[in-house]
Amino acid sequence: MNAALTGLCEKGAKGAMFACELEEEDFWRISSLMYRCCRVNLHEGKKTLVQSRLNKRLRALGLEDFNAYWQYMLDNEEEVVAMVDCLTTNHTHFFRGPEHFDFLSKRIFPALRERKEDSIRIWSAGCSSGEEPYSLAMALVETIEDVDTKDALVLATDISRKALERAKRGVYGKNEVYKVPPELRIKYFDFIRDEESGEMLFKVKDVLARLVRPRFLNLVDQWPMKHPFDVILCRNVMIYFDRETQRELIKSFWRALKPGGILIVGHCESLAGMMSRFEFLCPTIYSKIT
Ligand SMILES: C[S@@+](CC[C@H](N)C(=O)[O-])C[C@H]1O[C@@H](n2cnc3c(N)ncnc32)[C@H](O)[C@@H]1O
Repeated sequence: MNAALTGLCEKGAKGAMFACELEEEDFWRISSLMYRCCRVNLHEGKKTLVQSRLNKRLRALGLEDFNAYWQYMLDNEEEVVAMVDCLTTNHTHFFRGPEHFDFLSKRIFPALRERKEDSIRIWSAGCSSGEEPYSLAMALVETIEDVDTKDALVLATDISRKALERAKRGVYGKNEVYKVPPELRIKYFDFIRDEESGEMLFKVKDVLARLVRPRFLNLVDQWPMKHPFDVILCRNVMIYFDRETQRELIKSFWRALKPGGILIVGHCESLAGMMSRFEFLCPTIYSKIT
């Protein structure tokens, strides 16, 4: 067996209890592939995380070590998708960064409501399992009651197929909806029971599902969208990219916005040094200057 073992990595045993160690060479092969696929920058400090997450794939596939995993990936292109799913960080929750939703509900959505133009385009770029776009949809419906009569949509894109499946289902557990204020939970979610476990679940109502369009999109590929956006949220995504990729992405967001359109980034992300064509409105919120 090629891999050094931190414990026993039983050959071909599904569900083996111990982890294979990720050797330096395998780590660099995998991190380079991740960078080529989606520009996620897995530096040395992420080695333990990569090892522990990919050990789950090794066990699921019954592979003996990371060398075998690499060979498997060369023979099965679709495994790259599963690897990306495993290695992206999908942490999110409803109304994450509440000040962003306050800003949109108080300053931006009322202005969209008063505007003559009917189309409203919002984009949650790196939407993970859907909590962000459904929070946007709730804020939108709360501010623009007749949003149904407008040509409004919240595009929700991500590179993780697994996260997108969850976004498409729009079903969440009670530990996930606890951040939704109770009055909105009652208004915008149906209670359902999981058939197997009997667990109580919350399914987004049609009024939200009609607005939100979950789609696969790798942000570092060509974007197919033709119409410009009023608001783009790309929060807690760019931290995984290097400076050059962030710079390119900011330029692309600028092109994808309507004049005066709003770009919102995460609290650990900054446009400092890259935002010459954006006006700083308040921390992490910018508007497009033409
Ligand atoms: C930490 S989550 C952030 C979710 C949400 N925006 C929030 O702030 O709560 C980051 C998301 O970015 C996605 N992501 C990472 N690289 C990407 C890429 N190249 N293209 C599209 N999505 C990407 C990941 O799959 C993950 O779901």
